[in-house]
This record gives sequence, C-alpha cells and structure tokens, in this order.
Amino acid sequence: MSIRIKTAKQIEGIRKSAKLAAETLKYLEQFAVAGNTTDFINAKAHEFMLRHKAIPATLNYNKFPKSICTSVNDVVCHGIPGEYELKDGDILNIDVTTILDGYYGDTCKMFPIGKISENAQKLIDVTKNCLKIGVDQCYPGNRFGNIGYEINQYAVSQGYSVVYEFCGHGVGVAFHEDPEVCHVADKNSGKRMREGMIFTIEPMINEGKARTKIDKNDGWTARTIDGKLSAQFEHTILITGQGCELLTDVYGEY
Ligand code: MF3
Ligand code: CO
Ligand code: CO
Repeated sequence: MSIRIKTAKQIEGIRKSAKLAAETLKYLEQFAVAGNTTDFINAKAHEFMLRHKAIPATLNYNKFPKSICTSVNDVVCHGIPGEYELKDGDILNIDVTTILDGYYGDTCKMFPIGKISENAQKLIDVTKNCLKIGVDQCYPGNRFGNIGYEINQYAVSQGYSVVYEFCGHGVGVAFHEDPEVCHVADKNSGKRMREGMIFTIEPMINEGKARTKIDKNDGWTARTIDGKLSAQFEHTILITGQGCELLTDVYGEY
C-alpha cells in the first residue's frame, strides 16, 4: 500500500477536523476531575462533537462502543468510558478522533486528576517529550523509522519502555491509513516523508515492561502486563515543504 499525498482541499478539511479534535480535548479538561465517571466525560465529548457538526470516529468503529477513549493509570490505550469514578492521583488519557465533513483529526493527551505522584508526573513529562522528539524528525526526505528510533532512545535513557504493539498511523481521509508510524524502529528505516502526507505520532510510554494485554471481557482495553503506569500523547501532523505543521496543536502547547 502507498501513502496518500493529500490535496490542498483535503488538507483544508483535515485541518478543520484536527482543530475541532483539539478543541474537544480542551473543552473536556474541566470535566477531568475526581468524582466524575469516564462515561460522563464521554457524554460531554459526544455532545460537543455533535454540536460542532462532527461525528465521533471511535463510536461503532470495529464495534468500539463509545465516542472517545479514556485510559486510566495502567491502561495503555483504548480504554472504554464507563462507570469508573476518577479519583485523586489518577492519570487519565483522553483520545479524541473527529470526523468533520468526512475528514479525520486524531489527538490525545494526559490529564492529571488532583495531586499526582512525582513518578506519575515524570512519566507524563517524558511522554510529552517523546512526542516532541518524534515531531522533530518530521520533515520531507526523512525516513519514518527515525521517529521511532529517536523516541525509543530517549525513553529508554529515562528508564522507561516504549509500547511497540500499537503505532501511529496515516490519517485524514480515513481513520487508519498507511503508513504505520512505529514508536520503536531502526535508524533510517522505512519510507521517506513527503510534503502533503498526514499522520499521527502517539507514543505510549510505560514505567515498567513494554508488553500489553487486552482485556478478555471487553476485547479493547489494553493494559500494561505488569500493572505499572502508562502515558500517551498524540498529534495529527502534516508534512510541509519545510518541515511540518501540528494540526492538533491549536493552543501552542508544543
Ligand atoms: N484514537 C485511537 C488512535 O489514536 C484509536 C482508537 S480506536 C478505538 O489511533 F476503536 F479504540 F476507538
Ligand atoms: Co491515532
Ligand atoms: Co487517537
């Protein structure tokens, strides 16, 4: 399969959708507090997306039952919103994917609930740095493998492990397009980035072992194999003539 080069019209559409995904995350911040259930946050996210004429991409995607993913503590990704009540010290990831006018935007970030441990804060900081380090590799002519190579080098140097069972992905016209953007990779491996490509980088970084296991009952929730914490950040990224544009960084946090 080949990597789509987006047209100017597609880029415009994806930019709008990505902006809305980022705005959804920003809107949800006020609800990421102790005592709220993850289902309540899901309901707020669902309403917000519909109000802005978007469809939540995860709802009914391969039978995923909710409008966002909420992944708490040892949940690596694909947590299903439910009756779980957030409590002081939790670390929560919310992953939002919007479909606006047929175009996809995909982003996630961490929300500390109340006062979190120093360990949890360091994990979050390092994971955010991992995304930045990946973004630094985004320019035309560079190879996709260098994203994962640099992320892994850094994460390991900080004493963490990088999840290799889930990857970033091309995005925009569909939810998951080519290429797979792995967060562990060999230097100078993979295809070259070209102007007009749009994809995500979404490193999942673990305190302990890299391995994950999927919940047998729901078939989605991916947890760390050892029960230790995991964190994740995600941006939708456009390769430009010079470098890249972070389509989901509408608040200049990067
Ligand atoms: N948003 C996730 C990603 O970054 C995918 C979620 S798929 C779901 O690729 F089905 F779990 F919602
Ligand atoms: Co994604
Ligand atoms: Co996502």
